[in-house]
Formats: sequence, structure tokens, C-alpha cells
Amino acid sequence: MKKFFVLFLVAVIALTACSKTDSDASTSDAKTVKTKVFQVAFNQSESHPQYRALVEFSDAFYEATEGRYKFDIKPNELLGDQASTIEMVQDGAIEMSMIGGPLMENFNKDFGVLCLPFIYDDTDHQEVVFTSGMLDELFASTESLGFRVAAACTAGFRSVYCDKPVYTPADLKGYKVRVMQSDTMLATLNAMGAVATAMGQGEVYTAIQQGVIEGGENNEITYNDLKHYEIAPEYTYTRHLAIPDFLIISSTAYNAMSAEDQATFDRLSKEFATTEFKLWRESIDAAKANAEANGATFYEIDNTPFREACQSVTDNLLKTDSQRALYEEIRNAAN
Ligand code: GCU
Repeated sequence: MKKFFVLFLVAVIALTACSKTDSDASTSDAKTVKTKVFQVAFNQSESHPQYRALVEFSDAFYEATEGRYKFDIKPNELLGDQASTIEMVQDGAIEMSMIGGPLMENFNKDFGVLCLPFIYDDTDHQEVVFTSGMLDELFASTESLGFRVAAACTAGFRSVYCDKPVYTPADLKGYKVRVMQSDTMLATLNAMGAVATAMGQGEVYTAIQQGVIEGGENNEITYNDLKHYEIAPEYTYTRHLAIPDFLIISSTAYNAMSAEDQATFDRLSKEFATTEFKLWRESIDAAKANAEANGATFYEIDNTPFREACQSVTDNLLKTDSQRALYEEIRNAAN
């Protein structure tokens, strides 16, 4: 059934892409430039900082390649949930997708280190780790899977929301809390006292509304964007995770570019991450204020009990020398 859905989407996208390429042909002086349009899957709205940074990326890419490339960004899970879009990128059905870091550990466990609870002190620490080049080797490791990691950007700090404030793991006893489809996230929320329940982001609102689960955990921007304050208005700053979001591109699309266009893409990918961090910082206060205006309450707590409860998750994940080395490198980059 899933395969059928993917094939159906491939057909729809192929048709759209054909017509797009023709209509986007632009004339510059003597010669006509055919624009190759990269389909980019995105699971959040057009107002999200990542969407806006992708638009800037597309404009700059179009200009720098003299019209040879641009993006068609499909927001709001139009192309499916993040897990399905990874398969579509691998198959070459679409060119790019923004995906939550925890999904990457299903391909290479070392990515799980980047998504460990309490590993980053703050967003500045995360920015150094994501943009300094220290992850280049890890990113290159996905080439054999049919895609490349172009950039890692911030998705803020994640906190728990449900129908009450939570101060210790005991408060989450018996509470089913949605997480992404990742072993590390499941282990993290279980260690925090909840009953972790994996599902795609698009199902969360209805699942809470119908009482299938009691809550979720996410950053303020997504919490606000998806109007989760309507069904889970009590948001507690547990700040247990700060996962990266990765921009991935299919190897087929990347390898089809000239060396010059690849270099442009690589340079703009780095700029994309920096822009995204900036837009993220600028967007948090407004997201929080809007959620509050719509009934949400944000609770600042001492998150030490949750931090202590999660130490076992870190100890259990760090199994190999490369994982321990990466962990040390990340921690050493903290101020
Ligand atoms: C964040 C993150 C997304 C992810 C989402 C989720 O919003 O930026 O990449 O999909 O959380 O919880 O699924």
C-alpha cells in the first residue's frame, strides 16, 4: 500500500515537474535557459523559519546558476510524512527533503549522538556544532544510501506539552507522549517517565484531541504553527532535546549537476544553515506570544530531575568508539 502511494506520488510529481520545466524556461539575451526545478518536501507551514530560509536558498541558487536551478518547496506534509519523503529522495522521485534528525539514526546510529537528550547547552553551542564542519565526515557517510546531507539546522529545544505542567518524571506517569519514529526519542521520553508513542507529526493533533495520547513534545515554533495549544495548552520547559533538522538531497540530483553548480549548492547550503539559525532566533518570541494569546501557558521549571533520568539514555547509546568520540567533540565545543 505504501509502495503504491509512493509510486502514485512519483507519477504526480513527474507530471508536475515536466510542465514546470517548460513553463520556467526563461530567455536571457540570445540563449534560452531551461530551469531544473528541485521538488523539496517540507512538513511544516510557509511561515516556518526553515521554509523562509529555503526560499532564500532557492532565490540565491537560481541567481548564481543563471536560472539553471530553483526549488519548488511543498509545505505541510503535501508529499507525505518525513519518513516517507526520505524514501522518495532515495528513489529519486523527489530531489530534496527537510527531515528531523532522529529519523537519520535509522540509517546510521552515529546520527543518534546528535539527538541525545541534553547534549547541547544552548542554541549557540548547537550552531558551532552544526556549522563548523566537524560533522562533514558523518554527513558524507550517507552517500551509499542514495542521498547527501546538505545542511544541519536548528529545530530549537523540545519541551513537553499536555493538560498539566510537569515538574518531575512522576508527573508523566501513564501519560502517552508522542515522539518521532526514533529509538533514541522513544528511550528519552520513557526515561522521563512517560509512555513514549511514535507517530508522524501530522497525526498528533487528532491523536491528542481523541485521547489516543495525552501529549506531545516539540519546540515553541512547531507547537504554535500546528496549533497544538488548542488541545494541549500546558507547555513545560523540560528542554530535554535539541535535535537537528537535516536538508537532504538525492545523490542522483546532486551528481547530475556540473562541478561548478555543485560548489554553488554546497556554498549556499552552508549559508542556508546560518540564515535558518538567525530566523529561528527571531521567530521564537512571536510564536510563544501567539500561543499564549490562544490559551497556552508556558512553565519554567528546574529540569534537573529529567536530566538525571535521561543519563541512562546517553550511556546506552554511546556504544562504539566513533560514537564516544563524536559525543566528546560535541561536548568540547560547549562554552
Ligand atoms: C520539529 C522538527 C521537525 C519534526 C517535528 C516532529 O518541528 O523541526 O523536523 O518533524 O519536530 O516532531 O515531527
